Amino acid sequence: VLLAGVGAARAEFPEKPVTLVVPFAAGGPSDKIARDLAEALRKKLNQTVIVENVGGAGGTLGAAKVATASADGYTLLVHHIGFATAPTLYRKLPYKGIDDFAYLGLINEAPSTLIGRTTLPAKSFADLRKWIAADPTKVNLAHAGVGSASHLCGLMLQSALKTELTTVPYKGTGPAMTDLMGGTVDLMCEQATNAVPQIEGDKVRAFAVTSKERMKLPSLASLPTLAESGLPDFGVTVWHGLYAPKNTPAPVLAKLNEALRGALKDPELIKRQEALGITVVSDARVEPAAHKKFVEAEVMRWAKVIQAAGSYAD
Ligand code: MLT
Repeated sequence: VLLAGVGAARAEFPEKPVTLVVPFAAGGPSDKIARDLAEALRKKLNQTVIVENVGGAGGTLGAAKVATASADGYTLLVHHIGFATAPTLYRKLPYKGIDDFAYLGLINEAPSTLIGRTTLPAKSFADLRKWIAADPTKVNLAHAGVGSASHLCGLMLQSALKTELTTVPYKGTGPAMTDLMGGTVDLMCEQATNAVPQIEGDKVRAFAVTSKERMKLPSLASLPTLAESGLPDFGVTVWHGLYAPKNTPAPVLAKLNEALRGALKDPELIKRQEALGITVVSDARVEPAAHKKFVEAEVMRWAKVIQAAGSYAD
């Protein structure tokens, strides 16, 4: 009777709202992606799905909140490439690392862009390089904390330009974008998710795409990549994945993975993400073992790149 009871209980999952923790402030790309996902998951789970922003320390505080949450499937983490760079960037993580989570599947890949305030004297990336070289320390580069995608991209840019800028951390690139549009900060690497509307609205100046390939969006197809603009090895694309606390029961994980796979086939979600230059991953990658293997490879890849760029956060 007891086993049947347990089985029935799990069969009912989710009996109450599911929370997606976003480890960055509201208004940024992670938040946008999580809200799109929440809407699609709500339909699949037939249950309320809420988004909770837990910013700070480049996403590690939000990740820690989920790592230590009760392993019942009601608290999940939507995170990006920072999940795989934090173990290298932080000597002391507030959680045990990538093995402190159950993997539910990859979500999407978002190109990133190098954008600046519209009042900058530089119009092209070539001009921008000259302007930076004149006095790098006067250049304020915004990011969302050590471990964020914007920080990683900024680190790679400084390493590629062999220069050190003044960096300005925020709890997310949402608030950073406000300052960039206001002209109180100069530059930022920002995922297309958040940058496309501002570039299309002439609220910020786009210098380049930081991913290896140009964006397919007609409005940005003419924007060169940094690889084309004199930094041939430059390539930062931001991927996102969904995680649960490590000991979440297998039947609950299976139900969540099934809901995620269904959500990523939702035409509404696909349309919204593609309109921002985002690519939803193939169904084969929305699979726990493939997701974990991918993250383990990313940890190794970025560890080498970050160590070469020589930056750590204590
Ligand atoms: C955000 O949502 O604020 C961004 O993903 C932060 C970042 O990683 O740059």
